[in-house]
Amino acid sequence: MSHNTYPAISDLKSAARKRIPHFVWEYLDSGTGEEATLDRNRRKLDEVLLQPSILHGEFTPDLATSFLGRDYQLPFGIAPVGMSGLIWPGAEQILAQTAAREHIPYTLSTVATQTPEDVAEHHGGQGWFQIYPPRDPDIRADILGRAKAAGFHTLVLTVDVPVASRRERQTRGGLQQPPRLTPRLALQAARCPAWLMGIGKTGMPRMKLMDSYANQKERLPSNAHIGYLLRTSPDWSYLTKLRDEWDGHLIVKGVLDAKDAPAIEKAGADALWISNHAGRQFDASPATIEALPAIRAATTLPLILDSGVSGGLDILRAFALGANFVMLGRAFHYGLGAMGTPGAAHVVDILRQDLTANMGQIGAKSLSDLPQKLFTPSNR
Ligand code: LAC
Repeated sequence: MSHNTYPAISDLKSAARKRIPHFVWEYLDSGTGEEATLDRNRRKLDEVLLQPSILHGEFTPDLATSFLGRDYQLPFGIAPVGMSGLIWPGAEQILAQTAAREHIPYTLSTVATQTPEDVAEHHGGQGWFQIYPPRDPDIRADILGRAKAAGFHTLVLTVDVPVASRRERQTRGGLQQPPRLTPRLALQAARCPAWLMGIGKTGMPRMKLMDSYANQKERLPSNAHIGYLLRTSPDWSYLTKLRDEWDGHLIVKGVLDAKDAPAIEKAGADALWISNHAGRQFDASPATIEALPAIRAATTLPLILDSGVSGGLDILRAFALGANFVMLGRAFHYGLGAMGTPGAAHVVDILRQDLTANMGQIGAKSLSDLPQKLFTPSNR
C-alpha cells in the first residue's frame, strides 16, 4: 500500500512538507545562502551515468557490503541530524529502532534532542555517535564516556562547521533556540495536528545533551544552536587528542579536499566521510560526488558519502566512483513526516527496491561490480 502512495522519497518529501510546521520544515530542508550547493549536490549526482546492460540473464543482486569490520545487508545508514526530535516527535528513538531492525547504522547527533542514554536501549548495537568537538577537555571526556557507556561503538567527528553558517531560510522561518512557539509559529503548528500531538507527548524538544553542560544563563543569538556554546573549531592536534581518547572506530566527517586525506589517515582515523553538510554550511562548495574521485585516489581508507542522496541509484553512483558506504539524513525525516513511525522503514524499503531494480538494469551482481559499470565515453 505505502509503495503505491509513496513510491519515491520525493513523494514522502511532498507529504512531509504539509505535516511538519513551516518553521521546522525550513530547518530540515534548507541549505545556506542561495542554496547553490544544495542544488549542485543533486545535479552532479544526476550527471553520473552508469552503463545499462543487456542479455546478462537472470540474477538476484546482492546488496551486502562490509564496513569497518561489520557486515551489512544494505550499503547505507542514517546520518546525524540536529534537532531530529523536533522535526518529528520521538525521531531519535524511532530511527534507532529502525536501524536495529534493518541492521543499518544510526548516527546520533550531539545536537539531537535526545541523549546517548535515551537512545541506548533502542539502537541494537547499530549506534554511531556524532561529536561536535567541545572546547573543554573535561566535557569532551565526559561525552565520550557517555557515548561509549550507551553502546555507541563508532565516533564521527564533524569538521565542516568551523563557524556557524548563516542559513537565511532558517532565520526567516523563525526557529529559535531553545525552540519556542511564538504566536506565529503556534499557528503553523496548529495546522499540523499529528506533529502537535506528538510534541504534546514528548514536550517541546531541546538539545538535551548540550543542556546538560550549558550554563543556561548565557544567551545566544536567538537562531543559533546552543551547541556553539560548547564547540570549538578543531585543528589537527584536536583530531590527534580525540584519536587518543576514543578506542573505537573514528570517522572524520566533512572531508572534501583530497589533500587532507593522507593527513587524516596518518592521524589514525578509520574512515573518511565525504560531506558538504548537505549544502547547509558553505554555498560555493563542490558537490560531494565531484569530490569523491580525487579523495578515492588519495587514500585507502573506507569512504562514506552523503549530501543530496535521494534514491538507490545515487548509492550506486557513489559506489561506482569508489565510495564504500552512503548515509542519508533528510530522507529518513521525510519518511517520518509523511507517515510517522513506519515512514523510516519505508525509506529503507524504497532504497532496497531501487538498488535492486537498478542493479538489474546494469547487470551488477554485487556492489563491488559498480566501478566497472561507470559510463565514460572512453569505455565505449
Ligand atoms: C545542522 C547542524 C546541527 O546542520 O549540523 O543543522
